[in-house]
Amino acid sequence: MHDFQYRKNDLCCEQVPVDKIAAAVGTPFYLYSQSALESHFAAFDSAFKQIQHLTCYSVKANSNISILKIFARHGAGADVVSGGELFRSLKAGVSPDRIVYSGVGKLAQEIEYAIDAGILMFNVESPQELDLISTLAGKKKKNARISLRVNPDINPGTHPYISTGLKENKFGINLHDALQEYTRAQQKKHIDIIGIACHIGSQIIDVGPFVEALQTLKYLVKKLNRRGTEIKYLDLGGGLGITYEKENPPHPRQYAQALIQELDRLPVTLILEPGRVLVGNAGILVTQVLYTKQSGRKHFIVVDAGMNDLIRPSLYGSYQGIQPVKKKTGTTVVADIVGPICESGDFIAKKRKVTACAPGDLMAVMSAGAYGFSMSSNYNSRPRIPEVLVSGGHYCIIRERESYNDLIQREKIAEHLQ
Ligand code: LLP
Repeated sequence: MHDFQYRKNDLCCEQVPVDKIAAAVGTPFYLYSQSALESHFAAFDSAFKQIQHLTCYSVKANSNISILKIFARHGAGADVVSGGELFRSLKAGVSPDRIVYSGVGKLAQEIEYAIDAGILMFNVESPQELDLISTLAGKKKKNARISLRVNPDINPGTHPYISTGLKENKFGINLHDALQEYTRAQQKKHIDIIGIACHIGSQIIDVGPFVEALQTLKYLVKKLNRRGTEIKYLDLGGGLGITYEKENPPHPRQYAQALIQELDRLPVTLILEPGRVLVGNAGILVTQVLYTKQSGRKHFIVVDAGMNDLIRPSLYGSYQGIQPVKKKTGTTVVADIVGPICESGDFIAKKRKVTACAPGDLMAVMSAGAYGFSMSSNYNSRPRIPEVLVSGGHYCIIRERESYNDLIQREKIAEHLQ
């Protein structure tokens, strides 16, 4: 995270001291570095420059429209999983012919929206979905471009909640049925088969499972091509991991080289759907110490960000680095860093060694750019926190802090209660 560095004792995002932003916008807030976002995209996308490819940023990782705009400007497409994500992508200027749409539960109105928008393709996840897309396209007298998302039954060796390519997972069409579904798709007048897709999981820190998935897809592409079904796009999904603590994931260059080698000049355009690797280490969560307290031998640091703001530690037991916004010397303590939510599962870090701190101190929760804000909620009626983007020496609020009125904006007191 070299765009988040100390200058003397002050943590800075690019050229802006983090405490300066905190003083202006209040805490907690998410903070992103534009330079990090751009360099991560460039590193990923350029790693594939020797082959025909399309990098479709996975919107779910961080869906702020400013972030989407940054990637769109650099030629990214988008991987969306809902009408809402499609709407955001189009608003941010992503070209529809660079948008792929995945997801096991696409709604009829979402499918219609995507057909009207003219997206590149639907990654179809079930026979019934195929039928529905075909019917809806037919009603519009249009053709829908599709790929089938196959489930290659590969163990990506990641947290069970974020592994998606095993046959016990709900995603995709199993290998056994895929060819038959392609045959059915081919017989449908309003369906154009253009691709094949898979996504095996997230935070994968080894190239092995990706190569294995590609082998499986390659085998199917060859089989399909032989019987006259032309596959132009091979979508390998996302999933490349990042360093949160001590993980040592492959650099995008190594990842790309392994895939390009396995692809072995197969005449397809390779689609990638990276999310975390582009945004994870381009963002932090800035939070303030509210209280410190002792319970027997246990030390707690209560901060103003909760599991509603960042759910990853609570949901996946994931590690997020913690750094002081202002470095100070002093004794260290081993503490649980917990939020204000009324749940014992509300923590940001457990048994973490940090410099002893006091109310008012600011902490940076590192590697929070992916699946941070996008998974946040209003639980405990906490207004959602702002998002701030730094570019060079400037910062800009790209989502305002919600107000109490925002919390009840769509609610009403039932007539019979008035
Ligand atoms: N494509 C598809 C079809 C996906 O389902 C996902 C992520 C991606 C691409 C992007 O994966 P990435 O490159 O970001 O690993 N909330 C979890 C991660 C859930 C990932 C869901 N699908 C977390 O915070 O770790």
